[in-house]
Amino acid sequence: MSQSMDPVVVMKQEVGKAAANLVVSNTIVGLGTGSTTAYAIEYIGDRLKNGEISNIQGIPTSFQAEVLAKQYGIPLTTLDAVDHIDMAIDGADEVDPQKNLIKGGGAAHTREKIVDSLATQFIVVVDSSKLVEKLGSTFKLPVEVIPMAMTPVMRAIAQLGGKPELRMGIRKAGPVITDQGNMVIDVEFAAIPDPAALEKTLNNIPGVLENGLFVGVTDLVFSR
Ligand code: 5RP
Repeated sequence: MSQSMDPVVVMKQEVGKAAANLVVSNTIVGLGTGSTTAYAIEYIGDRLKNGEISNIQGIPTSFQAEVLAKQYGIPLTTLDAVDHIDMAIDGADEVDPQKNLIKGGGAAHTREKIVDSLATQFIVVVDSSKLVEKLGSTFKLPVEVIPMAMTPVMRAIAQLGGKPELRMGIRKAGPVITDQGNMVIDVEFAAIPDPAALEKTLNNIPGVLENGLFVGVTDLVFSR
């Protein structure tokens, strides 16, 4: 089967395009991370190239988003240079009925949370496999940890009832290293009854930089 006929790829392309079509001229756009947002970035670039929209400034949420934005001709800016973000488009690993998310499958959730939370409108783009009744049911919760604190953070998370696992690289020996130079642990919880409370509790553990729970941040979900 060719890649373009893979139904999941088609779903990702469709939602990426739908979100890219909402971008209007003269705006600052947060550019998310992952395979679905990559299509949105590509389509924003196409719309800039064919003159449908102009004067877009992108704020990338990762090295990957930065590379793609450059590849597709989207001018970039930084949070130091702007006082607002009009819209952010990003993927997710799980979306619950309240539009709360688990993110961090690409280990980019720290920058993603900064950019997505600042956006006036945050649009999530996902294929239908990401829609869940309860967060944590299909995906382990990513937590970015400063390396020297790894052992006490793992212990603290185990005391909270989670099963932490250091994320290892693929085609790279050793752990995944984030764009900030930290490590990621993926935590299995039997249940996450109160995502807002768990988000705060995890971030209160010294050494935790950010976790992948996005509570009350999403405005719109595009799913197929
Ligand atoms: C990266 C993320 C991604 O948005 C999430 O993993 C979804 O990725 P994909 O669109 O490739 O399924 O949170 O940290």
